[in-house]
Amino acid sequence: MRALLSHAPGGPETLQVTDLPDPQPGPGQLLVRVRAAAINYPDVLIIEDKYQLKPPRPFAPGGEIGGVVIGVGQGVEGWSEGDRLIAVPGFGGLSEQIAIPAASAFRLPTERSFTEGAALLLTYATSIHALWDRGRLQAGQAVLVLGAAGGVGLAAVELGKARGARVIAAVSSEDKAQAARAAGADDAIVYPRGPFDRDGQKALADQFKTAVGPAGADVIYDPVGGDYAEPALRAIAWEGRYLVVGFPAGIPRLPLNLTLLKSCDVCGVFWGAFAMRDPQANAAHVAELFQLWDAGKISPKVSATFQLERAGEAIAAIAARQVIGKLVVEIG
Ligand SMILES: NC(=O)c1ccc[n+]([C@@H]2O[C@H](COP(=O)([O-])OP(=O)(O)OC[C@H]3O[C@@H](n4cnc5c(N)ncnc54)[C@H](OP(=O)(O)O)[C@@H]3O)[C@@H](O)[C@H]2O)c1
Repeated sequence: MRALLSHAPGGPETLQVTDLPDPQPGPGQLLVRVRAAAINYPDVLIIEDKYQLKPPRPFAPGGEIGGVVIGVGQGVEGWSEGDRLIAVPGFGGLSEQIAIPAASAFRLPTERSFTEGAALLLTYATSIHALWDRGRLQAGQAVLVLGAAGGVGLAAVELGKARGARVIAAVSSEDKAQAARAAGADDAIVYPRGPFDRDGQKALADQFKTAVGPAGADVIYDPVGGDYAEPALRAIAWEGRYLVVGFPAGIPRLPLNLTLLKSCDVCGVFWGAFAMRDPQANAAHVAELFQLWDAGKISPKVSATFQLERAGEAIAAIAARQVIGKLVVEIG
Protein backbone atom coordinates (compact mmCIF):
# COMPACT_ATOMS: atom_id res chain seq x y z
CA MET A 1 0.00 0.00 0.00
CA ARG A 2 1.01 3.64 -0.42
CA ALA A 3 1.28 6.30 2.26
CA LEU A 4 2.45 9.91 2.36
CA LEU A 5 5.26 9.74 4.90
CA SER A 6 7.19 12.18 7.04
CA HIS A 7 10.77 10.82 7.16
CA ALA A 8 12.29 13.84 8.96
CA PRO A 9 10.90 16.95 10.73
CA GLY A 10 9.97 19.64 8.21
CA GLY A 11 7.22 21.33 6.23
CA PRO A 12 4.71 19.72 3.83
CA GLU A 13 7.30 19.71 1.02
CA THR A 14 9.25 17.03 2.93
CA LEU A 15 6.42 14.47 2.72
CA GLN A 16 6.99 11.56 0.30
CA VAL A 17 4.64 8.98 -1.19
CA THR A 18 6.17 5.66 -0.15
CA ASP A 19 5.28 1.98 -0.73
CA LEU A 20 4.82 0.01 2.49
CA PRO A 21 3.74 -3.54 3.38
CA ASP A 22 0.00 -3.77 4.10
CA PRO A 23 -0.70 -3.41 7.86
CA GLN A 24 -2.39 -6.25 9.75
CA PRO A 25 -5.15 -5.75 12.34
CA GLY A 26 -3.88 -6.59 15.84
CA PRO A 27 -6.13 -7.76 18.69
CA GLY A 28 -8.97 -5.27 19.20
CA GLN A 29 -8.22 -3.53 15.90
CA LEU A 30 -9.93 -2.96 12.58
CA LEU A 31 -8.04 -2.83 9.31
CA VAL A 32 -9.49 0.04 7.27
CA ARG A 33 -9.22 0.87 3.58
CA VAL A 34 -8.99 4.66 3.88
CA ARG A 35 -11.26 6.47 1.43
CA ALA A 36 -10.86 10.01 2.77
CA ALA A 37 -8.62 11.76 5.30
CA ALA A 38 -9.35 15.29 6.50
CA ILE A 39 -6.54 17.78 7.12
CA ASN A 40 -6.48 19.84 10.32
CA TYR A 41 -4.09 22.33 11.87
CA PRO A 42 -2.47 19.59 14.00
CA ASP A 43 -1.14 18.11 10.70
CA VAL A 44 0.87 21.32 10.25
CA LEU A 45 2.40 20.86 13.70
CA ILE A 46 2.90 17.09 13.84
CA ILE A 47 5.20 16.88 10.79
CA GLU A 48 7.43 19.57 12.33
CA ASP A 49 7.57 17.86 15.76
CA LYS A 50 5.65 20.82 17.23
CA TYR A 51 2.55 18.87 18.32
CA GLN A 52 1.93 17.22 21.69
CA LEU A 53 1.80 13.85 19.89
CA LYS A 54 5.20 12.83 18.44
CA PRO A 55 4.88 9.54 16.51
CA PRO A 56 8.03 7.56 15.69
CA ARG A 57 9.23 8.13 12.10
CA PRO A 58 8.49 7.43 9.41
CA PHE A 59 4.80 8.15 9.89
CA ALA A 60 1.94 9.46 7.77
CA PRO A 61 0.09 12.56 9.01
CA GLY A 62 -3.70 12.65 8.65
CA GLY A 63 -5.58 12.74 11.95
CA GLU A 64 -9.08 11.70 10.90
CA ILE A 65 -10.43 9.27 8.34
CA GLY A 66 -13.44 7.76 6.67
CA GLY A 67 -13.13 4.28 5.20
CA VAL A 68 -14.25 0.66 4.90
CA VAL A 69 -13.40 -2.27 7.17
CA ILE A 70 -11.28 -4.83 5.29
CA GLY A 71 -10.03 -6.86 8.25
CA VAL A 72 -11.23 -7.57 11.79
CA GLY A 73 -8.73 -8.28 14.60
CA GLN A 74 -9.04 -10.90 17.28
CA GLY A 75 -11.63 -10.15 19.96
CA VAL A 76 -13.46 -7.45 18.00
CA GLU A 77 -17.26 -7.71 18.12
CA GLY A 78 -19.90 -5.78 16.21
CA TRP A 79 -17.80 -4.96 13.14
CA SER A 80 -17.58 -6.85 9.81
CA GLU A 81 -15.74 -6.47 6.55
CA GLY A 82 -17.52 -3.91 4.38
CA ASP A 83 -18.72 -1.73 7.26
CA ARG A 84 -18.28 2.03 6.72
CA LEU A 85 -16.71 4.03 9.52
CA ILE A 86 -15.12 7.27 10.64
CA ALA A 87 -12.38 7.62 13.26
CA VAL A 88 -9.69 9.93 14.61
CA PRO A 89 -6.47 7.89 14.71
CA GLY A 90 -4.45 11.08 15.38
CA PHE A 91 -1.98 10.32 12.58
CA GLY A 92 -1.55 7.72 9.84
CA GLY A 93 -4.63 8.74 7.85
CA LEU A 94 -2.75 9.71 4.68
CA SER A 95 -2.37 6.01 3.82
CA GLU A 96 -4.30 3.56 1.71
CA GLN A 97 -4.77 1.29 4.74
CA ILE A 98 -4.58 1.79 8.50
CA ALA A 99 -5.18 -0.43 11.55
CA ILE A 100 -7.16 1.40 14.28
CA PRO A 101 -8.63 0.43 17.66
CA ALA A 102 -12.19 -0.82 17.03
CA ALA A 103 -13.30 1.08 20.14
CA SER A 104 -12.37 4.40 18.51
CA ALA A 105 -14.52 3.91 15.39
CA PHE A 106 -18.00 5.25 14.68
CA ARG A 107 -20.35 3.95 12.00
CA LEU A 108 -20.81 6.16 8.94
CA PRO A 109 -24.41 6.01 7.63
CA THR A 110 -24.72 4.96 3.97
CA GLU A 111 -26.27 8.30 2.98
CA ARG A 112 -23.10 10.16 4.09
CA SER A 113 -20.02 10.31 1.86
CA PHE A 114 -16.57 9.34 3.12
CA THR A 115 -15.42 12.88 2.33
CA GLU A 116 -18.05 14.53 4.53
CA GLY A 117 -17.70 11.86 7.20
CA ALA A 118 -13.93 12.25 7.43
CA ALA A 119 -14.46 15.97 8.07
CA LEU A 120 -16.86 15.55 11.00
CA LEU A 121 -15.26 14.21 14.12
CA LEU A 122 -12.14 16.15 15.00
CA THR A 123 -13.65 19.59 14.61
CA TYR A 124 -17.26 19.04 15.73
CA ALA A 125 -16.43 16.69 18.61
CA THR A 126 -13.85 19.23 19.84
CA SER A 127 -16.32 22.09 19.59
CA ILE A 128 -19.27 20.28 21.17
CA HIS A 129 -17.06 19.21 24.11
CA ALA A 130 -15.72 22.76 24.38
CA LEU A 131 -19.09 24.55 24.24
CA TRP A 132 -21.29 22.07 26.14
CA ASP A 133 -18.91 20.69 28.81
CA ARG A 134 -16.29 23.36 29.33
CA GLY A 135 -18.25 26.46 28.25
CA ARG A 136 -21.64 25.45 29.70
CA LEU A 137 -23.20 27.43 26.83
CA GLN A 138 -26.93 28.05 27.23
CA ALA A 139 -29.64 29.30 24.86
CA GLY A 140 -29.77 33.08 24.79
CA GLN A 141 -26.13 33.52 25.81
CA ALA A 142 -23.55 35.25 23.61
CA VAL A 143 -20.54 33.33 22.25
CA LEU A 144 -17.62 35.03 20.52
CA VAL A 145 -15.82 32.63 18.13
CA LEU A 146 -12.31 33.59 16.97
CA GLY A 147 -10.95 32.05 13.76
CA ALA A 148 -14.61 31.40 13.02
CA ALA A 149 -14.15 30.25 9.39
CA GLY A 150 -11.55 27.60 10.24
CA GLY A 151 -12.20 23.94 10.99
CA VAL A 152 -13.08 24.02 14.68
CA GLY A 153 -14.29 27.63 14.36
CA LEU A 154 -17.06 26.95 11.81
CA ALA A 155 -18.11 23.92 13.85
CA ALA A 156 -18.38 26.18 16.92
CA VAL A 157 -20.50 28.68 14.97
CA GLU A 158 -22.98 25.98 13.90
CA LEU A 159 -23.09 24.35 17.33
CA GLY A 160 -23.55 27.71 19.04
CA LYS A 161 -26.59 28.39 16.84
CA ALA A 162 -27.89 24.84 17.39
CA ARG A 163 -27.76 25.61 21.13
CA GLY A 164 -29.80 28.80 20.64
CA ALA A 165 -26.95 31.16 21.47
CA ARG A 166 -26.13 34.50 19.83
CA VAL A 167 -22.97 33.83 17.81
CA ILE A 168 -20.49 36.60 17.02
CA ALA A 169 -17.84 35.42 14.55
CA ALA A 170 -14.39 37.03 14.34
CA VAL A 171 -12.19 36.38 11.30
CA SER A 172 -9.36 37.92 9.27
CA SER A 173 -11.05 38.50 5.88
CA GLU A 174 -14.38 39.40 4.32
CA ASP A 175 -14.55 35.97 2.56
CA LYS A 176 -14.18 34.28 5.93
CA ALA A 177 -16.85 36.56 7.42
CA GLN A 178 -19.23 35.52 4.65
CA ALA A 179 -18.54 31.84 5.37
CA ALA A 180 -19.22 32.37 9.08
CA ARG A 181 -22.49 34.18 8.33
CA ALA A 182 -23.48 31.41 5.90
CA ALA A 183 -22.91 28.92 8.74
CA GLY A 184 -25.37 30.90 10.87
CA ALA A 185 -23.34 33.52 12.73
CA ASP A 186 -25.56 36.44 13.83
CA ASP A 187 -22.74 38.87 13.29
CA ALA A 188 -19.21 38.72 11.89
CA ILE A 189 -16.32 41.13 12.38
CA VAL A 190 -13.09 41.25 10.40
CA TYR A 191 -10.02 41.73 12.60
CA PRO A 192 -6.55 42.68 11.33
CA ARG A 193 -3.73 40.18 11.00
CA GLY A 194 -1.29 40.31 13.96
CA PRO A 195 1.13 40.59 15.59
CA PHE A 196 -0.12 43.69 17.42
CA ASP A 197 1.58 46.31 19.59
CA ARG A 198 -0.20 47.66 22.73
CA ASP A 199 -2.24 50.16 20.70
CA GLY A 200 -3.18 47.42 18.23
CA GLN A 201 -4.31 45.15 21.06
CA LYS A 202 -6.34 47.97 22.61
CA ALA A 203 -8.04 48.65 19.25
CA LEU A 204 -8.77 44.93 18.88
CA ALA A 205 -10.26 44.77 22.40
CA ASP A 206 -12.52 47.71 21.51
CA GLN A 207 -13.57 45.93 18.30
CA PHE A 208 -14.48 42.77 20.25
CA LYS A 209 -16.33 44.76 22.95
CA THR A 210 -18.38 46.66 20.37
CA ALA A 211 -19.26 43.42 18.57
CA VAL A 212 -20.43 41.49 21.65
CA GLY A 213 -22.22 44.43 23.29
CA PRO A 214 -22.05 45.97 26.78
CA ALA A 215 -22.82 42.75 28.68
CA GLY A 216 -19.82 40.98 27.10
CA ALA A 217 -19.54 37.43 25.72
CA ASP A 218 -20.69 34.65 28.05
CA VAL A 219 -18.38 32.24 26.22
CA ILE A 220 -15.26 33.00 24.16
CA TYR A 221 -14.10 30.18 21.88
CA ASP A 222 -10.41 30.76 21.05
CA PRO A 223 -8.64 28.43 18.59
CA VAL A 224 -6.24 31.25 17.57
CA GLY A 225 -4.33 32.46 20.66
CA GLY A 226 -1.34 34.79 20.20
CA ASP A 227 -2.01 38.52 20.40
CA TYR A 228 -5.75 37.90 19.91
CA ALA A 229 -6.26 36.25 23.30
CA GLU A 230 -5.94 39.14 25.77
CA PRO A 231 -8.09 41.55 23.71
CA ALA A 232 -10.76 38.84 23.47
CA LEU A 233 -10.64 38.16 27.23
CA ARG A 234 -11.27 41.87 27.81
CA ALA A 235 -14.65 41.42 26.04
CA ILE A 236 -15.86 38.61 28.33
CA ALA A 237 -19.04 38.84 30.43
CA TRP A 238 -19.27 38.66 34.22
CA GLU A 239 -18.75 34.97 35.10
CA GLY A 240 -17.95 34.19 31.45
CA ARG A 241 -15.97 31.15 30.24
CA TYR A 242 -12.87 31.61 28.09
CA LEU A 243 -12.15 28.42 26.12
CA VAL A 244 -8.49 27.76 25.31
CA VAL A 245 -8.61 25.62 22.15
CA GLY A 246 -5.48 26.27 20.05
CA PHE A 247 -2.55 28.51 19.24
CA PRO A 248 -1.84 28.99 15.49
CA ALA A 249 -1.00 32.64 16.27
CA GLY A 250 1.25 31.67 19.22
CA ILE A 251 0.88 30.71 22.88
CA PRO A 252 -0.44 33.77 24.74
CA ARG A 253 0.05 34.93 28.34
CA LEU A 254 -2.97 36.39 30.14
CA PRO A 255 -2.91 38.94 32.99
CA LEU A 256 -4.81 37.17 35.79
CA ASN A 257 -6.24 40.45 37.13
CA LEU A 258 -8.66 40.33 34.17
CA THR A 259 -10.16 37.08 35.48
CA LEU A 260 -10.69 38.65 38.93
CA LEU A 261 -12.32 41.75 37.47
CA LYS A 262 -14.88 39.66 35.51
CA SER A 263 -15.11 36.72 37.94
CA CYS A 264 -14.57 34.59 34.85
CA ASP A 265 -13.06 31.15 34.14
CA VAL A 266 -10.25 30.33 31.72
CA CYS A 267 -10.95 26.73 30.66
CA GLY A 268 -8.52 24.43 28.87
CA VAL A 269 -10.03 22.22 26.16
CA PHE A 270 -8.26 18.95 25.20
CA TRP A 271 -10.74 16.87 23.25
CA GLY A 272 -8.39 13.93 22.52
CA ALA A 273 -7.62 13.39 26.21
CA PHE A 274 -11.30 13.86 27.11
CA ALA A 275 -12.32 11.19 24.55
CA MET A 276 -9.77 8.73 25.99
CA ARG A 277 -10.70 9.42 29.62
CA ASP A 278 -14.46 9.39 29.09
CA PRO A 279 -15.28 7.43 25.91
CA GLN A 280 -18.96 7.12 26.85
CA ALA A 281 -19.40 10.87 27.15
CA ASN A 282 -17.59 11.32 23.85
CA ALA A 283 -19.79 8.68 22.17
CA ALA A 284 -22.88 10.51 23.47
CA HIS A 285 -21.55 13.73 21.90
CA VAL A 286 -20.94 11.93 18.59
CA ALA A 287 -24.49 10.52 18.64
CA GLU A 288 -25.77 14.08 19.22
CA LEU A 289 -23.63 15.32 16.32
CA PHE A 290 -25.23 12.76 13.97
CA GLN A 291 -28.70 13.87 15.18
CA LEU A 292 -27.83 17.52 14.59
CA TRP A 293 -26.49 16.61 11.13
CA ASP A 294 -29.74 14.76 10.31
CA ALA A 295 -31.72 17.78 11.51
CA GLY A 296 -29.71 20.03 9.16
CA LYS A 297 -28.22 22.05 12.05
CA ILE A 298 -24.62 21.12 11.28
CA SER A 299 -22.81 19.85 8.20
CA PRO A 300 -19.06 19.56 7.58
CA LYS A 301 -17.92 22.34 5.23
CA VAL A 302 -15.43 20.79 2.80
CA SER A 303 -14.04 23.61 0.65
CA ALA A 304 -11.60 21.55 -1.46
CA THR A 305 -10.43 17.97 -2.04
CA PHE A 306 -6.97 16.66 -2.94
CA GLN A 307 -5.37 13.42 -4.10
CA LEU A 308 -2.82 11.66 -1.88
CA GLU A 309 0.15 12.88 -3.95
CA ARG A 310 -0.97 16.53 -3.46
CA ALA A 311 -1.94 16.27 0.22
CA GLY A 312 1.08 18.37 1.22
CA GLU A 313 -0.55 21.31 -0.57
CA ALA A 314 -3.57 21.00 1.72
CA ILE A 315 -1.32 21.11 4.81
CA ALA A 316 0.54 24.11 3.35
CA ALA A 317 -2.75 25.97 2.74
CA ILE A 318 -3.80 25.51 6.38
CA ALA A 319 -0.39 26.71 7.58
CA ALA A 320 -0.76 29.80 5.35
CA ARG A 321 -4.10 30.75 6.99
CA GLN A 322 -5.86 30.41 3.62
CA VAL A 323 -8.49 27.76 4.30
CA ILE A 324 -12.22 28.15 4.87
CA GLY A 325 -13.80 25.09 6.52
CA LYS A 326 -12.08 21.78 5.85
CA LEU A 327 -9.78 20.22 3.26
CA VAL A 328 -10.11 16.51 2.56
CA VAL A 329 -7.73 14.11 0.81
CA GLU A 330 -9.60 11.46 -1.20
CA ILE A 331 -7.76 8.15 -1.43
CA GLY A 332 -8.30 5.21 -3.76
N1 LIG B 1 -8.00 21.66 22.05
C1 LIG B 1 -8.38 20.66 21.28
O1 LIG B 1 -8.84 19.63 21.74
C2 LIG B 1 -8.18 20.84 19.80
C3 LIG B 1 -8.80 19.97 18.88
C4 LIG B 1 -8.63 20.25 17.51
C5 LIG B 1 -7.87 21.34 17.09
N2 LIG B 1 -7.26 22.11 18.03
C6 LIG B 1 -6.46 23.29 17.68
O2 LIG B 1 -7.34 24.29 17.23
C7 LIG B 1 -6.61 25.14 16.34
C8 LIG B 1 -7.39 25.30 15.06
O3 LIG B 1 -7.42 24.05 14.38
P1 LIG B 1 -8.16 23.92 12.97
O4 LIG B 1 -7.86 22.57 12.45
O5 LIG B 1 -9.57 24.39 13.09
O6 LIG B 1 -7.30 25.00 12.13
P2 LIG B 1 -7.73 26.01 10.98
O7 LIG B 1 -8.86 25.47 10.20
O8 LIG B 1 -6.49 26.36 10.28
O9 LIG B 1 -8.28 27.29 11.79
C9 LIG B 1 -7.43 28.08 12.56
C10 LIG B 1 -7.76 29.54 12.36
O10 LIG B 1 -6.79 30.28 13.12
C11 LIG B 1 -6.65 31.57 12.53
N3 LIG B 1 -5.24 31.96 12.55
C12 LIG B 1 -4.73 33.02 13.20
N4 LIG B 1 -3.43 33.12 13.05
C13 LIG B 1 -3.05 32.10 12.27
C14 LIG B 1 -1.80 31.67 11.76
N5 LIG B 1 -0.66 32.34 12.04
N6 LIG B 1 -1.77 30.57 10.98
C15 LIG B 1 -2.90 29.90 10.72
N7 LIG B 1 -4.14 30.25 11.19
C16 LIG B 1 -4.19 31.35 11.96
C17 LIG B 1 -7.23 31.49 11.13
O11 LIG B 1 -8.43 32.25 11.16
P3 LIG B 1 -8.39 33.83 10.81
O12 LIG B 1 -7.51 33.98 9.59
O13 LIG B 1 -9.80 34.16 10.56
O14 LIG B 1 -7.81 34.49 12.04
C18 LIG B 1 -7.62 30.01 10.92
O15 LIG B 1 -8.83 29.89 10.22
C19 LIG B 1 -5.22 24.50 16.16
O16 LIG B 1 -4.31 25.13 17.03
C20 LIG B 1 -5.44 23.06 16.59
O17 LIG B 1 -4.27 22.46 17.05
C21 LIG B 1 -7.42 21.89 19.36
